[in-house]
Amino acid sequence: MNSSLTLPQHCKSNLEYIADLRSPEGTTVSLNEITAPLDSEVSRRLAQALAGMDPWRRYGFSSEALLRFMAPAEASNPRYVICVRDEIAGLAALKHAWMFGSYLNILAVLPQHQKCGIGSRFLDWFEKSARLRGERNQFVVTSAFNTGAVAFYRRHGFEPIANLDGLINDAETEILLRKRLTPTG
Ligand SMILES: CC(C)(COP(=O)(O)OP(=O)(O)OC[C@H]1O[C@@H](n2cnc3c(N)ncnc32)[C@H](O)[C@@H]1OP(=O)(O)O)[C@@H](O)C(=O)NCCC(=O)NCCS
Repeated sequence: MNSSLTLPQHCKSNLEYIADLRSPEGTTVSLNEITAPLDSEVSRRLAQALAGMDPWRRYGFSSEALLRFMAPAEASNPRYVICVRDEIAGLAALKHAWMFGSYLNILAVLPQHQKCGIGSRFLDWFEKSARLRGERNQFVVTSAFNTGAVAFYRRHGFEPIANLDGLINDAETEILLRKRLTPTG
């Protein structure tokens, strides 16, 4: 099976272009909100890819459970696909109006697109758009075992503020991280 996830032409009308996350080398990377159900084969393959990646793999999340993050939702709960040209490279989901800020519910860059700067540019956009909404805080939760993601968020100004033992299963701890957007933050 081809491991790349190319968007069929008819699927593009189900996405609304939101922002350019272009790389410094000029590669076209776009952030697109999911405004109508995606092609079922595309969603299924994206969900399968996520289910095969940590942290979801370690928690045993099924691809069926992950499919819900690919469905359009109310305006306070937007979901996005990140595309490199016509190929899906990642998925993001936000919750607005979450403790005087926004909560990054999911950020996943597919393995073949990691370490190219896509996650960083998504966080830059997330901060810029939050400031435009006048938000004071940004939050994300990541698994303590996911040390790469904890380092990634810390490098982008998020500070661990609480350990949440047993949040997802009894054996693991999640870390709640916060970024302050006030001028002193
Ligand atoms: C965590 C995650 C979102 C980061 O996304 P990403 O697109 O790989 O992030 P970036 O490329 O911007 O940065 C990742 C690292 O690559 C490095 N990097 C960035 N551009 C690079 C380049 N062109 N060449 C080499 N390295 C590069 C960065 O220095 C960064 O280092 P850091 O992790 O120590 O901060 C991604 O790894 C992922 O989806 N992981 C699996 C799911 C997950 O853990 N999600 C988060 C918790 S739910």
